[in-house]
Amino acid sequence: MARLTINGTVRDIDVDPNTPLLWVLREQAGLTGSKYGCGVAQCGACTVHIDGNPVRSCVLPVSALSAEQQVTTIEGLSKDGSHPLQQAWLKLDVPQCGYCQSGMIMAAAGLLKKNPKPSDADIDAEITNICRCGTYNRVREAIKLAAS
Ligand code: FES
Repeated sequence: MARLTINGTVRDIDVDPNTPLLWVLREQAGLTGSKYGCGVAQCGACTVHIDGNPVRSCVLPVSALSAEQQVTTIEGLSKDGSHPLQQAWLKLDVPQCGYCQSGMIMAAAGLLKKNPKPSDADIDAEITNICRCGTYNRVREAIKLAAS
């Protein structure tokens, strides 16, 4: 059993404590915006926030979390897609296949929280998520648009 606070709602979830958070989000909580890419904390498709900080949920067992910690997924970033990053993503048509983009946005939200006006170098250093379509230039421009 795990008690988690996901997008502001406390949930008791009947699950093996070693289960990675990503699977609980997708399978038990029905929040499928966070994606499985590599499963070894490399690609970032599974990025969510714990207390506002980006983490790769594919390698985080739910036993490492308490109900006092706030888990935020892409579904919880805004209720209606109005977050400045989501708006910038739409305006600049950032996604190609789209698979990695929720993780990209969550990583970008973490970056803007600690650095509201990041340079290209800051973005490149912080956003280590992988996009097989190569949308990196548009990701960079969207982050700067959201920050403006
Ligand atoms: Fe978690 Fe790739 S699926 S980092």
